[in-house]
Amino acid sequence: MTHIETRVEATGKDEPDYAGRKFGAGAVARQSHRRFVGGHWERIGRLQRDFLVQQGLEPGQRFLDVGCGSLRAGRHLVEHLEPGNYHGIDVNADLVAAGYDHELTDEQRERLPVANLRSTDRFDADFGVEFDMAIAQSVFTHISLNHVRLCLARVAQVMRSGGRFFITFNEQPEDFPVDGIPERGHYTERNVFWYYREDIRWAASFSPWSFRYLGDWGHPRDQRMIELTRT
Ligand SMILES: C[S@@+](CC[C@H](N)C(=O)[O-])C[C@H]1O[C@@H](n2cnc3c(N)ncnc32)[C@H](O)[C@@H]1O
Repeated sequence: MTHIETRVEATGKDEPDYAGRKFGAGAVARQSHRRFVGGHWERIGRLQRDFLVQQGLEPGQRFLDVGCGSLRAGRHLVEHLEPGNYHGIDVNADLVAAGYDHELTDEQRERLPVANLRSTDRFDADFGVEFDMAIAQSVFTHISLNHVRLCLARVAQVMRSGGRFFITFNEQPEDFPVDGIPERGHYTERNVFWYYREDIRWAASFSPWSFRYLGDWGHPRDQRMIELTRT
């Protein structure tokens, strides 16, 4: 066979099977559903709750958790919000079910109707309600720019005017070369994804959002925060 010169620069991880990964009893016993969302189970769960409360999330408001995973933040938000006000979507139904069945107390399950949770491959967050606030934490770190644009368009459709959507991302400074390989070697254009701040601004420009960069919010892996407000 003819030898073709092969050059490999981007040795980042390939995308995990976000939608198809199963979380049966054995996996849950090994806490795979916690590791799959990135570990730091207690810290990043509380960090999100504290951040959102500081941003003014009130118990009576309707909240959407985009890429809610195994309810790392959800279990805290269900406590903070009035019953029925937390909603979550994710591409992986099994992961959400693992969180619902194994991470919530009976009292918390009573506050969170199963119908408020959904598995969706295209960010379908139409629950028939308008949301006051939303977050996508550690989600844009795992999806392509096409998906980011789609997500922002879909969430805009279900936010009330003035509602705010907080998103975190792995930021590269604007002087970082487009063909650079980040020092944290696995952050490539494959997975985990990195973006320029302007990439997110551009993706948001297709939908009715105003853009505000918040930056550091205390994330242990230095993910940065952006606030989008529904115009
Ligand atoms: C690092 S985890 C973060 C989960 C959660 N936001 C948290 O902070 O615990 C990333 C989540 O994004 C979900 N995800 C990946 N691709 C997605 C997509 N296209 N649509 C919705 N969720 C997606 C994964 O299933 C996973 O739950």
